[in-house]
Amino acid sequence: MKILSTQVCIIGAGPSGLLLGQLLHDIGIDTIIVERSSLDHVLSRVRAGVLEQGAQRTLEAAGIGGRMHAQGLVHEGFAITRETDVHRIDLSGLTGGKWVTVYGQTEVTRDLVDRRADTGGVTYYSVDAVEPHDFAGDKPHVTCRIDGEEVRIDCRFIAGCDGFHGASRRAVPEKSIRTFEKVYPFGWLGILSDVPPVSHELIYASHSRGFALCSMRSKSRSRYYIQCNAGDSVEAWSDDRFWTELRRRLPPDIAEAVTTGPSFEKSIAPLRSFVAEPMRFGSLFLVGDAAHIVPPTGAKGLNLAVSDVHYLFEGLCGHFLERDRFLLDSYSERALARAWKAVRFSWWMTTMLHRFPEQGPFEARILETELAYTLSSEAAKTALAENYVGLPY
Ligand code: APR
Ligand code: PHB
Repeated sequence: MKILSTQVCIIGAGPSGLLLGQLLHDIGIDTIIVERSSLDHVLSRVRAGVLEQGAQRTLEAAGIGGRMHAQGLVHEGFAITRETDVHRIDLSGLTGGKWVTVYGQTEVTRDLVDRRADTGGVTYYSVDAVEPHDFAGDKPHVTCRIDGEEVRIDCRFIAGCDGFHGASRRAVPEKSIRTFEKVYPFGWLGILSDVPPVSHELIYASHSRGFALCSMRSKSRSRYYIQCNAGDSVEAWSDDRFWTELRRRLPPDIAEAVTTGPSFEKSIAPLRSFVAEPMRFGSLFLVGDAAHIVPPTGAKGLNLAVSDVHYLFEGLCGHFLERDRFLLDSYSERALARAWKAVRFSWWMTTMLHRFPEQGPFEARILETELAYTLSSEAAKTALAENYVGLPY
C-alpha cells in the first residue's frame, strides 16, 4: 500500500472541498483532495447560481473573484408573481444597499479547479473506495484506490466535503449523529437554453398549476424551472411541453415575452431539507451538502457550503497558525446556527410558493394568506430580503 501524508485530507472536489483546499493551500497548510468522479463530471454538473455578498468575499479571498465580477450579473431585486399579479422585492432598498450576484455554480467550480491547478494543489480524481478512519483520535487517515493502487493518506484532520451521498457522514457511528429530514412531495424540472432571459431580474412564480422560476446564467442563457411531480421522468417533458407549462404559470404579459428555444440541459431535482448534527466528530468535519441540504427555492445551498468553509478555515487557521482551539471547537455550533436559519428560510419560501398535492383547504388558505401578507407588509418583505441576500457570518 502506498502511503501519502498531508495536514488536511479533503474528501470531495465540489465547491466546498475545492474552496477549503484553496484557502488552506494559499496560507501554506498542506492539503490533498480525493474525488470520486472524473474532472469532466465535476465540471459538467448544473446547479443554482445566486451568490450572497458574504460568499463572494470568501471566493475573492480564494483568489477567484476576477471572472465572477467580470461575468456575474448584479441583482438588486427579484419578482414574485401570484397568478397574474407581479410584486418586486427591492433587495437593495430593503436591506440598506445589499445585492446578490447571479453566477453559475458550474463557473465557480471551474474557477476553483483552474486556480488549484495554477497554484500546484494536489487533487486526485476518479478515486475509488474512499473511506475515513480513526477520526475519534488525532491521527486519522483516509484509505482509497487511486489508478488501481491502494493508498493510505495520513493526516491531522479530515474534511468531509463529499456531498449528501458521500462516505464521510456514513462513516460516523449511528449513535453519534442525529439527522433531521423533510422530503417534499414534488421536484423541480429545470432546463438551460441559449435564449435571452425573459426579465433582467429573477421571477419566482406562485400559481395554482404549481411553482415556476425564471432565472439566467447570462444575458443570452436562461435557466427555467417548473414544479413537477416527484415521480416524473425527463423523457415525458418535451421542450414544447415545458415551455407551454411554464407560460401557463406566469402572468400573461410575462408569458408572452418568454423567448423559447431548444434546451441543451434538462433534469429533475428532488426537493429535500436535511441537517446532520453535529458537524464535527473528533478529527472529521462535515462541510456543505455532506451536512445539510436545502430545497433550491432561495438558492442557499452553495452559499451555506461557503459559510461552512469560512468557519472551518478560521478554525483550522487557529489550530495550525496560532495554536488556538477555540474556533475549531466551535465550528459545529457556528455552522449549524447559520445552516438552520437557511434551512428555515428555504423551507418557508418553498412552502409558501409551491402547491402541495396533499394540502387540505385550511392549509391552502393559510399559505395563500402567508403570501398575501408577505407581499403587502414592509416588515415581512424586509425579513424576506434580509434572508435572501444572506444573513451575516
Ligand atoms: N469519495 C470522494 N468524493 C466523493 C464521494 C466519495 N465517497 N462521494 C461524493 N464525492 C464527491 C462528489 O462527486 C462531488 O464532487 O464529493 C463532491 C461533493 O460536491 P457537492 O455535492 O457539490 O457538495 P458541496 O461541495 O458541499 O457543494 C454544495 O453544491 O450540491 C450543491 O446545492 C449544493 O450548491 C450546493 C453545493
Ligand atoms: C438558478 O439560477 O439555478 C436558481 C436561481 C434561484 C433559485 C434557485 C435556482 O432560487
